Amino acid sequence: MSDLTFEIKSHPNPRSAEERAAVMANPGFGKVFTDHMVVARYSAGRGWHDAQIKAREAIPLDPAAAVLHYAQEIFEGLKAYRTADGGAALFRPDANARRFRHSAERLAIPPFPEDAFVQAMHELVKLDRAWIPDTADGSLYLRPFMIATEAFLGVKPASEYLFLTIASAVGSYFKDPNSTVTVWVSEHYTRAAPGGTGAAKCGGNYAASLAAQSEATAQGCEQVVFLDAVERRYIEELGGMNVFFVFEDGTLVTPPLSDSILHGITRDSVLTLAKEAGLTVKEEPYAIDAWRADVREGRLTEAFACGTAAVITPIGTVKGREESFTIGNGKAGPVAQKLRNLLVDIQRGNTNDAHGWFQKVF
Ligand SMILES: Cc1ncc(COP(=O)(O)O)c(C=O)c1O
Repeated sequence: MSDLTFEIKSHPNPRSAEERAAVMANPGFGKVFTDHMVVARYSAGRGWHDAQIKAREAIPLDPAAAVLHYAQEIFEGLKAYRTADGGAALFRPDANARRFRHSAERLAIPPFPEDAFVQAMHELVKLDRAWIPDTADGSLYLRPFMIATEAFLGVKPASEYLFLTIASAVGSYFKDPNSTVTVWVSEHYTRAAPGGTGAAKCGGNYAASLAAQSEATAQGCEQVVFLDAVERRYIEELGGMNVFFVFEDGTLVTPPLSDSILHGITRDSVLTLAKEAGLTVKEEPYAIDAWRADVREGRLTEAFACGTAAVITPIGTVKGREESFTIGNGKAGPVAQKLRNLLVDIQRGNTNDAHGWFQKVF
């Protein structure tokens, strides 16, 4: 247990109920921010200290801060959900805390104590409770992150850091949460290589994915599918989501974890729920040419992406330079829908949670 405790300083002048209602009427994703934020400091001599939850404000940063030059930064993403009793709950925040520590280790950042991380999420949700949407697909998205703040231009791990968490009232990630997405297979750009930072949630990975994402957008696609960097054949994941394939015999396949794939918490939850639902689950490499052939020959019936932001999103059409193909009739399939319902029911406390994933906040 860490001895870090958060001093809570409520916003002296939070936005009024009318102002909140106006911005929350149609929040989209990641545009509407709450009144508070979490902050803690690290210095090599003192360790983590000065932990507070306070009014959200701009942060002063020296122009030489290491994060601005060498991108020593990591982040997380998790959601708080409204429950039917008017309370709120978090989904597996301990798993986010653990992944945050792994990301910190890969980026040579001093880890943030996992128990303090979970505590901070609970406190922020309590303080910003008025910002949790009560719509069917709304939630409060929490964005913990850490940045290297030391003012020094040498290339080395910094000696000073800031841990912050901001919160955003969100609706669904994609415009129409009930439709499928079209994805673009990136044949030119890769996302991550063996030995690299693909399994860490660091900003640099996302910066490196943006050219591919722009290409996808230009092709009319919502997301990018990245292939492995060595053979350029095996499907790894999407720009911000893991991926699953459903076969006609009821088998579910997802690429195996490695150091070039983000170890998704939704992915892990889906694997557990699918096994419990009687599906055969395989974590094994799956190549883009096999995907094309399996769709053409009717062996593959569904594919879906999964992640905290978009939960489970069926893939309708896959576009590539050479060839494009549509899965089934291009609509959401029953397996993706069933897994989505199982997951959402646990997240929102509509069903008994046998896994210890659901954490009531208040
Ligand atoms: C690259 C990438 N893969 C997968 C995921 C899904 O991870 P999770 O289910 O933990 O949100 C995310 C989102 O966090 C991501 O950014």
